Amino acid sequence: MMESGIKKLQDLREKLLEGGGKDRIEAQHSKGKQTARERVLRLLDEGSFVEIDAFMTHRHSDFGMDKSRPLGDGLVAGFGKIDGRRVCVFAQDFTVLGGSFGEVAGQKVAKIMDLAMDAGVPVIGLNDSGGARIQEGVSSLAAYGELFYRNTLASGVVPQISVMLGPCAGGAVYSPALTDFVVMTKDISNMFITGPEVIKTVTGEVVDTETLGGAGAHSTISGVAHFATGSEDESFAVVRTLLSYLPSNNAEAAPLVETADDPWRMDTELNTIVPPESNSAYDMKEIITRVFDRGTFFEVMENFAQNAVIGFARLHGQSVGVVAQQPAVMGGAIDINAADKMARFIRFCDAFNLPLITFSDSPGFLPGVAQEHGGIIRHGAKIVYAFSEATVPKLTVITRKGYGGAYIVMSSKHIHADLVFAWPSAEIAVMGAEGAVNILYRKELTSAEKPEEERARLVAEFREKFSNPYRAAALGYVDDVIIPAETRPRLIAALELLRDKQSSQPTKKHGCMPL
Ligand code: HXC
Repeated sequence: MMESGIKKLQDLREKLLEGGGKDRIEAQHSKGKQTARERVLRLLDEGSFVEIDAFMTHRHSDFGMDKSRPLGDGLVAGFGKIDGRRVCVFAQDFTVLGGSFGEVAGQKVAKIMDLAMDAGVPVIGLNDSGGARIQEGVSSLAAYGELFYRNTLASGVVPQISVMLGPCAGGAVYSPALTDFVVMTKDISNMFITGPEVIKTVTGEVVDTETLGGAGAHSTISGVAHFATGSEDESFAVVRTLLSYLPSNNAEAAPLVETADDPWRMDTELNTIVPPESNSAYDMKEIITRVFDRGTFFEVMENFAQNAVIGFARLHGQSVGVVAQQPAVMGGAIDINAADKMARFIRFCDAFNLPLITFSDSPGFLPGVAQEHGGIIRHGAKIVYAFSEATVPKLTVITRKGYGGAYIVMSSKHIHADLVFAWPSAEIAVMGAEGAVNILYRKELTSAEKPEEERARLVAEFREKFSNPYRAAALGYVDDVIIPAETRPRLIAALELLRDKQSSQPTKKHGCMPL
C-alpha cells in the first residue's frame, strides 16, 4: 500500500513538470521564454525550492473548463533561498490557460504571501499571464482583489519584487505596481492598462505593444519599471543583487557585508570634480562611485528622470540608500518625475531601515507652465514629506548648489537630517547670484552708466557674501565644511555614530502624504 502510494505521488510529481503539455512548453521555449518551474529553479539557490499547493485544481465547469483540471492551475508557488537567505516566490505558468489568473491562483498567492509576512521574508512574483481568467468571471477578479490587498498589507513589512516575463494587461498591472520593484525583461514583457486594440477604438491612435508598454517605455518614460534587462537570467540576476542590499523584513537591520575597501580611503580626485564655474556640468555618479565601497553602487531607475540619481550602495559594508541630483542632466533641477523617483525611494529605504545618504546640488525646481500645470507643487512636496518623516540615519553632502526650495527639501538640517556636510564649493542661498542681483538691483542696473560692469561687480559681491557654505555653517545649518577627499571617512564615522539611532514620529494612524 505504502509503495503504491509513493509511486502514485511520484507519477503526480512527474505530471506536474508537464505544465500545460509538451506542445505548450515547446511554444513557450520557442518564444525565448522559460516555463514557470524552470524560472523558479533558475532564480533560487540550487536544491532550495519547496513547492506548496501543487495539487490544487480549479473547480469551474463553464466554457468546457470541466474537461481539464491541470495540477497547480497555472501557478507555481513556494519558498526557497537566494544567496542562502529565505524568500517566498510565485510564478505564473503561461503554458496553462495562458497563465490566466483565477480563483485558485489567487488562493495560492494569498497563502504564500501570508506565509512570507508571518516569516518575515521577501516575496518575488514572476509574471507571465493573459490576465484575469475569463471563464471564471468575477471569481478571477476577486482573486486579483485579494492579491492587491495583500500587496498593500505586505508593503513596508517585507520587500516585494515583481519580475515581468510576459504579458501583463488590464487591472493585473496593479499588483506589480503595488510592489517595491518592477524588473521588466526586454522583448518578452509588456504592461498596459488598455491594449493597442482598445486604444485604436477609443482614441484612434495606432501603437504597437512594445512602444506602448514594453521594458523600454516603462523604464525611461513612465517610471513604472525600475529595471529593464535583456534576458530572463539578467532579470533574475537583478533580483539577487537587489536582495543583497535589503533586509528580509522591516524589523531586521540592513545587511552588513565584509568589505575590502579601506574606510579611511581619501580620494583626492574628488577635490577637482566640481568645476569652478557654477554653471558647468559634472557627473554626480563619479562622486558616488568614488565615495562608497568600490563597485557597490547599484543604481535604481537608471534611465528614468536622470536629473535625479537613486540607488543602493555600501559604506564600510553597511547597506545604504543614495539619493542625489545629477548636475549633468537639466543642471540637476528637480522636476515632477525626479520628485516622484526620489520620494518613493526615500520611503522604501526608511521602511526597511536603510540609512539615507544624500548628495545635493540643485538650482531648484524646474520652471515652466508644463511643470506647474503638471503639479510640481504637489509632486515636489513628496520629497519634503518623505525626508521629513524618515527616521533612519540621514546624512547629507552639499557639493555645490543648495538654492531655495531645493536646499531645504534635499535632506537639509531644517527637515531633520542628522548631519549635513558641505564641500567648499557649496553655494547655499535663496537663489543663484545672477538671478538675485537682477532682482535686488534692477533699478540700479537700469540707471547704471555701465550696466554690465556693474552687474559683474554686484554678482561677484553677492557670491562672496552668500554663495559659499560658511554662512550656513556659522548658523549651525551645516555641521561641517569638509574637503571633498574626506567625504568617505566622514560619512563612515557619522554612520557609525548613528548606528543605534532611535527616533519616532507623533502617534498617528498614518500621515496624509501629498500623492
Ligand atoms: C483565459 C486565456 C486568457 C485569459 C489567454 N488565455 N488569456 N484564457 N483567460 N485571460 C489562453 C488563450 O485562450 C490560449 O488558450 C492560451 O491562453 C494562450 O494564449 P494565446 O492567445 O494563444 O497566446 P499569445 O498569442 O501569446 O497571446 C497572449 C495574450 C493573449 C496577448 C496574453 O492571449 C490575450 O490577449 N489574452 C487576453 C488578454 C486579456 O484581455 N485578458 C483579460 C485582461 S483584463 P488556447 O487553449 O486557445 O491555446 C484583466 C483584468 C484584471 O486581466 C482585473 C484585475 C482587477
